[in-house]
Amino acid sequence: MYGLINKAVEGLVRSKFGDATWDRIRTRAGLPDEPFIGMEQYPDKTTYDLVGAASAELGAPAAAILEEFGLYWVRYTAEAGYGELMKSAGRTLPEFLRNLDQLHTRVKLSFPHLAPPSFAVSDESSSSLVLRYYSDRPGLAPLVVGLLRGLGDRFNVDVTARFERVEGDRPHDRFVVEWSPRA
Ligand code: HEM
Repeated sequence: MYGLINKAVEGLVRSKFGDATWDRIRTRAGLPDEPFIGMEQYPDKTTYDLVGAASAELGAPAAAILEEFGLYWVRYTAEAGYGELMKSAGRTLPEFLRNLDQLHTRVKLSFPHLAPPSFAVSDESSSSLVLRYYSDRPGLAPLVVGLLRGLGDRFNVDVTARFERVEGDRPHDRFVVEWSPRA
């Protein structure tokens, strides 16, 4: 994945746990003391190793780390030069979720080798929908939970999301997303 992702993981750890914790996590992941370059591609293993090392150092399950990262990512991208892109994706949570593939298609203009996930929305009501998440990368459903919660913050709604794995011709994770306005 592009270095932008690893940079954001680093930003999250440094801001929440400090520089010394970041150094321990980076070392445990076997990575050199060098800055990540946002526009450069890194093996997916680098990101998975970082999540594994953070999980071990912080004593939290990998799923919790991924979820926390998803929450952070929504704010990070909005502040790291992708604010307009985020704005253009929609003004409400359901509108935004319907536009996720288009969002990554636009991201691809700056990151030509992007291998983005794909999303499909169905079963919409005024306060819920079904979101299907397709990716070749394993185990990232908890990241999507965090992203959905982050988008909830963005649109000022409380979000709950549960997911189940759907096997078959086109395996994916199926999320039931529900939201209610914040007081
Ligand atoms: C402007 C905002 C965004 C940017 C710049 C962005 C960019 C990226 C990049 C660079 C990757 C790594 C993929 C690769 O390098 O091949 C990625 C992956 C991913 N993105 Fe986005 N993204 C944005 C918003 C979102 C949002 C709002 C969601 C919410 C669902 C999302 C869901 C994901 C997921 C789940 C992955 C993990 C890769 C996978 O599932 O295979 N992204 N994105």
